[in-house]
Amino acid sequence: MRLVLTENLTPQMTLARNVYKMGCVYLKAGQRNISKYRERLEDLGVDYVYIHDEASEGIDIPEVVSEETRHKCQDALRTTFSTLENNMPIDVNMFKGPVNTLMAEIMNNSEVQVSLTDISSMDEYTFGHSVSTAVYSLIIGQELKLPKEQLQELAMGAILHDVGKVRLDSRVLFKETKLTDSEFEQIRKHPEYSFEILKYCRNMSNDAKMISFTHHERLDGSGYPRHLKGNQLGLFSRIVAVADVYDALSTNRCYRKAWPVNKVVDFLTKIAGTELDNELVAALIKKVAIFPNGTEVKLSDGSYAIVVSQNEQMPFRPVVRVVRDKDMNAVHPYGIDLMRDLNITIVASQMELEMEEEEQKKIIV
Ligand SMILES: [Fe+2]
Repeated sequence: MRLVLTENLTPQMTLARNVYKMGCVYLKAGQRNISKYRERLEDLGVDYVYIHDEASEGIDIPEVVSEETRHKCQDALRTTFSTLENNMPIDVNMFKGPVNTLMAEIMNNSEVQVSLTDISSMDEYTFGHSVSTAVYSLIIGQELKLPKEQLQELAMGAILHDVGKVRLDSRVLFKETKLTDSEFEQIRKHPEYSFEILKYCRNMSNDAKMISFTHHERLDGSGYPRHLKGNQLGLFSRIVAVADVYDALSTNRCYRKAWPVNKVVDFLTKIAGTELDNELVAALIKKVAIFPNGTEVKLSDGSYAIVVSQNEQMPFRPVVRVVRDKDMNAVHPYGIDLMRDLNITIVASQMELEMEEEEQKKIIV
């Protein structure tokens, strides 16, 4: 299995994972000749899909959380948002079941590195983002060895942290161009809206509720809405801040493309110690695959390879399978363990190469 750019789909490729739209399966895994759906997938805003082909035979992409559990959590969020849109009171109890399953899977897969690339469509962004934020928060919480009850509270607060976005104008929330100052002000109100919605909810601890209010605050006081700093920010707020930034940068947004994991990790490392908590950033980075299995990379000898498996001791040096030479011609595939062959390095990930191409196109235009 591997992840390919939708525009690079060929008739020989079979869909390896379901593609969803509004919570329903839009294309089912196993669909042959997936290239005939290319235009429809592009219209849907799906830039990447997981496929099976000869070049990626035998490559497994282990996931910390199953697709089914992610979608159960997203369903609960979809129901909550539509309840709020109809001005009805919400019941956070409905998250208990999905959150417990999420926790159980993360605990059972504690050895698995996160290689999640969310391919959900843009109209589902808030739901996908909320679930991923809960997943990353739990991974950090688990690294800190928090007790189960605390992990449960953390996950509840994290999954509902952006619920106030229901009160924002969707034209502003999904605007593709630069926001004006007043639009920015509107967006910045969502932590307060989230807290207003959650503050009277039963079955949710105060610490969990506070996450909604404080997840955009930063340790150095540069965040919003209250410019809180340092000790004013509790552990849950600090954890979800890291998880929120990590997911926001590593997924597609309406105004920019997803960043590759290595670039996200660089960025987080830069703001660790000032804006974000150093120890918590380190805890998350330890658990993510820098070059996830099934993604394409460019090697220092100019050739192109697919990542086959991880070397935990050296996250920047996985095992790869070379599939194209420097002139992009297909070659008979061969494997290299970059931990053993130290003369070769990864110079760019698939996403970086695509980003470079986009930049070049902009320059040419
Ligand atoms: Fe937020």
